[in-house]
Amino acid sequence: MAGIDYSQKIPNNVDLKSDKRLQRALERWQPDYIEWWKEMGPTDFNEKDVYLRTAVSVEKDGWANFSYVSMPEYRWGIFLTPHEKDPLIQFGDHMGQEAWQQVPGEYRNWLRRLIVTQGDTEPASVEQQRLLGHTAPSLYDMRNLFQVNVEEGRHLWAMVYLLHRHFGADGREEADQMLQRRSGNPDHPRILSTFNEPIEEWLSFFCFTMFTDRDGKFQLLSLAESGFDPLARTTRFMLTEEAHHMFVGQTGLQRIVRRTLEVMKEFPDADPAEKGAFPLELIQRYINFWASSCYDLFGAEVSSNSANFFASGLKGRAYEDKFEDHTALNQFKAVERFVDGKVVTEDVPLRNAMNEVLREAYIADNQKGVDSWNKECEKAGVPFRFYLPHHRFNRQVGEFAGLRFHVKTGEPMGEAAYQAMLEETMPTAKDRSHVKSLMVGVREPGKFAGWIAPPLRGINGQPVEMEYVKL
Ligand SMILES: [Fe+2]
Ligand SMILES: [Fe+2]
Repeated sequence: MAGIDYSQKIPNNVDLKSDKRLQRALERWQPDYIEWWKEMGPTDFNEKDVYLRTAVSVEKDGWANFSYVSMPEYRWGIFLTPHEKDPLIQFGDHMGQEAWQQVPGEYRNWLRRLIVTQGDTEPASVEQQRLLGHTAPSLYDMRNLFQVNVEEGRHLWAMVYLLHRHFGADGREEADQMLQRRSGNPDHPRILSTFNEPIEEWLSFFCFTMFTDRDGKFQLLSLAESGFDPLARTTRFMLTEEAHHMFVGQTGLQRIVRRTLEVMKEFPDADPAEKGAFPLELIQRYINFWASSCYDLFGAEVSSNSANFFASGLKGRAYEDKFEDHTALNQFKAVERFVDGKVVTEDVPLRNAMNEVLREAYIADNQKGVDSWNKECEKAGVPFRFYLPHHRFNRQVGEFAGLRFHVKTGEPMGEAAYQAMLEETMPTAKDRSHVKSLMVGVREPGKFAGWIAPPLRGINGQPVEMEYVKL
């Protein structure tokens, strides 16, 4: 496996120069990508130098190099985690056979769909976040936003490489369409609905990187098991970048909570909103909105697609090697269904319940973040505790779509009681205008907006007060 070749127009460790046709096709796509970035990325900051990390190696340790670059000059490239020797398919009907290096003909359409759906989310999130630089609560946070943005751009490259390399003319067509759809555009929307929600303020940005990027983590974990080896290797490298995105979300929310608790201590009789902070209940309402919207991203509880993807060896479970059996045959999972106004459980073949298996793992992972925010409350001696919305609450996809359930207990509810509960548990118009009213950019190095505490340390061992973006 070659190291990363930065002498090429497109940095890569896939020996791109030995495949001239592919290289030319990707070099033709590259200017369109840059055009898209200049139009739909963080446009107003394209000229500024940002302290960013770039991949210099695909090895586990020390893969990142930090330096000041302007974003359009970022070296987006194609990086695959190195080969194990002759990898085998780890699960499903083809378990034990050699992993595919070429697209298996019978699964071509499914595979293309998986890659396109994943790929589409990457530019979507850049579009959703494109104006946030203006209201960054600090240079540290602005830099983190841009780091996330350039890496989502690189994730698009990762998927576009697979499309160009393995799917011929229709792969190239799909790659072009990645740059044509637009988040929130009614005529050409992004594929998944969460990726069409605007992100106009930083509380939503931190919720997005906490909850939506974590959905990304679990999708990538399950694709990292794929029997289609190039997909497994490219998603493995994406996971190393993804970890930072969730760090941004989890610690961002934690710093917001910490700041609110400080304000509550200083002004015990005041509403924290009046003192320029976000009340804990308001933060909870944002959590309810974003987490429940992300539950939908895993798809229906019972799904023949999920069975097909698993059986074919294209998409496994997160950490497949932790399971004892990898065929998922003759096994059942108790899945909840809603019948005659009641929640009942029903045993369904495990392969059909793979979406639910992944969603459960995702929810358990989210809980760690919630626990860290509750620690802040505990330390401050404040009885408030955050929670994750129930998996049946506010669902638009699957068994519970459009039905009414309690946000905490998941009990079925009547319409009137449900609507009354929403007032308390989902962001209100007043919440949104309060959040927006506090979005004023802070650009002095080491200074932070009044609604968020500084981080405990800076990026890459640098001081918190470093000039992370040179404006
Ligand atoms: Fe991504
Ligand atoms: Fe991400």
